[in-house]
Amino acid sequence: MTKKRILSGIRPTGKLHLGNYVGALENWVRLQQEYDCFYMVADWHALTSEYADTREIMENMQSIVLDWLSAGLEPEISVMFIQSKVKQHAELALLLGMFVPLPWLERCPTYKEALQQVKEKDLRTYGFLGYPVLQAADILIYKADAVPVGEDQLPHLELTREIARRVNFICGDIFKEPQDILSRVPKLLGTDGRKMSKSYGNCIYLSDDEQTVNEKVSQMVTDPARVRRSDKGHPEICSVFDYQKVFTPERIPEIESGCRAATLGCVECKKILAASLKTLLDPMRARRAEILKNPDHVRNVIEEGNRRAAAEAEKTMIQVREALKIVP
Ligand code: TRP
Ligand code: SF4
Repeated sequence: MTKKRILSGIRPTGKLHLGNYVGALENWVRLQQEYDCFYMVADWHALTSEYADTREIMENMQSIVLDWLSAGLEPEISVMFIQSKVKQHAELALLLGMFVPLPWLERCPTYKEALQQVKEKDLRTYGFLGYPVLQAADILIYKADAVPVGEDQLPHLELTREIARRVNFICGDIFKEPQDILSRVPKLLGTDGRKMSKSYGNCIYLSDDEQTVNEKVSQMVTDPARVRRSDKGHPEICSVFDYQKVFTPERIPEIESGCRAATLGCVECKKILAASLKTLLDPMRARRAEILKNPDHVRNVIEEGNRRAAAEAEKTMIQVREALKIVP
């Protein structure tokens, strides 16, 4: 029996951090055993907002795939590729665009939110409005059964299904309606309790060494009312505790009661967290060191992935062109 298929992607806006890991990558690694997986660096999606200065994105691509490999994605199992190297995505996005009513895009919550919140870039472009159409093309072109994503992407997945349904209704059955597979942690905040973001400097990166991680953990914001070691703590308002829930789940009852009774100090608590992160990150560090011994490895993985992805994408495009009577 053939395995079910997965596609997912990430925008190359920087090296990967713990939020990317628990929000996506952890699931991607696990799902490799069960599914036929396609994982993509969505550089065109990054361009929808970063078109005015594209250098950083384009320089990031290799480092992201290196992060993937370090985290346990296996090139013998999964196809890892760059969106802009599989031109069929652009062709399908263009053709899907013919079918998508404008209001579907204009009322998309992620679109409305970005227009309201992002002031430093002009996002009132055709490309940015079409973001979900390109994403639908990414998914539908592989006939993915499921898409592992964070909660924030659910509106795009719903739109993908609507687009698939509409095109199938008009042109005959071509596309599959994909399901979502949600990650374990909806949103991991930064080390200061704000949204995790490169620009706030509050990220722990998968590529950070042990000492850097320990320093970042020791500087994390705790319960501000707990000034002395003997003050009782309130874990529900402490960033360290949020991280413990994710990275030290097995010791939560003990940490919570220790904090409330002031039998566990913040320094000690942070040591526990640092140890959990070491357990998570050490195998990644070992794999990274191994991979870096071969300077061509990442590039080879990407080139092979681009080829395998393009071959699959072309199969669907042949069907699509035929359905639209576009002569070969
Ligand atoms: N929009 C996704 C994000 O910002 C990235 C993405 C692009 C994606 N294409 C995709 C995710 C296809 C899943 C499937 O995270
Ligand atoms: Fe936060 Fe841990 Fe200190 Fe409690 S003991 S306030 S959970 S760091």
